[in-house]
Amino acid sequence: MSRVDAVLLGAGQRGRDVFGGYARTHPDRLRFVAVADPHGGRRNRFADEHAIPSERRFAGWADLLARPRLADVCFNATMDRTHHESALAALDAGYHLMLEKPMADSPAGCVGLEAHAQARGLLLQICHPLRYTPFYTRVKEVLASGRIGRIVSLTMHENVGYWHFAHSYVRGNWRRLDESGPTILTKCCHDMDIAAWLVDAPVRQVSSFGSLRTFRAENAPEGAPARCTDGCPVEASCPFYAPAFYMGAGIGWPTSTISVDTSIEARRRALETERYGRCVYRCDNDVVDNQAVTAEFQDGTVLDFFVRSNSVDCFRTIRVVGERGELNGHFEKNEMMVSEFGQGYSDKARHEVIRTAVWDGGHGGGDVGAIGNFLRSVDRKDSAGMAHSLRIAVEGHLLAFAAEQARAERRVVTMDEFRASLSR
Ligand SMILES: NC(=O)c1ccc[n+]([C@@H]2O[C@H](COP(=O)([O-])OP(=O)(O)OC[C@H]3O[C@@H](n4cnc5c(N)ncnc54)[C@H](O)[C@@H]3O)[C@@H](O)[C@H]2O)c1
Repeated sequence: MSRVDAVLLGAGQRGRDVFGGYARTHPDRLRFVAVADPHGGRRNRFADEHAIPSERRFAGWADLLARPRLADVCFNATMDRTHHESALAALDAGYHLMLEKPMADSPAGCVGLEAHAQARGLLLQICHPLRYTPFYTRVKEVLASGRIGRIVSLTMHENVGYWHFAHSYVRGNWRRLDESGPTILTKCCHDMDIAAWLVDAPVRQVSSFGSLRTFRAENAPEGAPARCTDGCPVEASCPFYAPAFYMGAGIGWPTSTISVDTSIEARRRALETERYGRCVYRCDNDVVDNQAVTAEFQDGTVLDFFVRSNSVDCFRTIRVVGERGELNGHFEKNEMMVSEFGQGYSDKARHEVIRTAVWDGGHGGGDVGAIGNFLRSVDRKDSAGMAHSLRIAVEGHLLAFAAEQARAERRVVTMDEFRASLSR
C-alpha cells in the first residue's frame, strides 16, 4: 500500500491523538501536509509534530478547503456541529473523506452527505471504530457463520462510566443539544451503527424512554458552589470533585482536554476559570443521562439497547439471540461465549468461549483499524465496499435520530414516515 497524503481539519483530541498519532506511528502509510484549526496552540502543536510549513497552517476548515486540493484525503475531526458543512466542502474540493461521527446534526444532512459523496465518486468513511475491533469483527463472523441461526434479537448495553459521563456529557463538549446533539447520537451512534451493521437490514420502527435525572441543579449537595475550586463543603466525598479528575499525575486524556499547557499551574487556572472546573450539578448541560431504545428491523430482528451514565466502569455488552443458539459478549474483556442448542435438554447445549485479540490504542484498537480500512479503501479505490459501509452508517445515524424523536415525543416512530419526512 502506498503512502497517502492528507489534510486535517480540527487538531483537537481526535485530530491530534488519533489521526495524528496514526501518522506518527505509520509514517509509511499516512502523512499530514496541511492543518486547519482556529485554536493557535493546537494548530501549531500539530503542525510542528508533522513538520507542516507555516503556509499550510490554516485558521479554519473553510480557509484550507478554499485552496486547490492539497492532498488526496481529508480527515475531518472538527466538532459535531461543523461536520456537515465542512464535509460537503471537503467533498466539493475533491477529497476522499474520513469524517468523525456524528456525520451530520440532522437526519436529512446524513442522507444528503451520502448522496453528495456518491455523486462525486468520492469515498466517505464515517469514523465508527467499533466495527474494526477484533471483538466486533468476530461477533459479525460468528453471526455470518450461521452457528446460532437467524438473529432474533440483540440486547446491547453501553455503560459510559460516571467519570466519563461527567467529563464529556456534563462538563464537556457533548453536554448540550444545541452545541453537539442528543446522547443517543453523540455517544451511542457507535452502538446504533453496530446494530445496523450486524443486522444489515433497514429499521422499521423505534421507541425510546429516558431523561436527565442525575446531573441537575436540584441534586446539588447543600452549599455546593458553582465551581469545585470555590471551597465546596463536600469536596472530600463527591465523586465528581474536579481536581480529583484533572490534577493528578496523568496528563493524557481526559486531562489533556482541559488545557494545551498541562502544567499544574495551567490546569489549576483552567479549573478555576473554564468549564471543566464546574460543579456537575450546576452546569448548563441538557442531554439525557440514561436512555432505553427498542427498535424493530424490517427482517423482524428486535434491538433492545440501554445507555447509562451511572456505571462504575466503562463497558459495553452484547447478547445476540438466534434461532439455534446465542452469543453473550463483553467488549472490554474481549470475550464472548457462543452457545449452540443441543438435541434435547439445555444440558446438551454446546458452549465455546472465544477470547479475541487485544489491540493497543483507543476503542479496543478500533481507531487504528478504522483508519487502516479507510487508507486501504482509498488505495484500492473500493467504492462498492465503501458505499455499503456508508449505507449502514447512515442507517445507524437515522436510528439514533428516530430514537431521540421517539423519546422526546413519547411515541413510536415509524421509519417509513420518518424517511418520508426528510425529503419534505
Ligand atoms: N469516533 C470516535 O470514536 C470519536 C470519539 C470521540 C470524539 N469523536 C468526535 O470527534 C470530533 C472531535 O472531537 P474532539 O474530542 O477531538 O474535540 P476537540 O474539541 O478536542 O477538537 C475539535 C477541534 O476542532 C477545532 N475547530 C473548531 N472550529 C474549527 C474550524 N472552523 N476549522 C477547523 N477546526 C476547528 C477546535 O479548535 C478543536 O481543536 C467530534 O465530532 C466528536 O464527536 C469521535
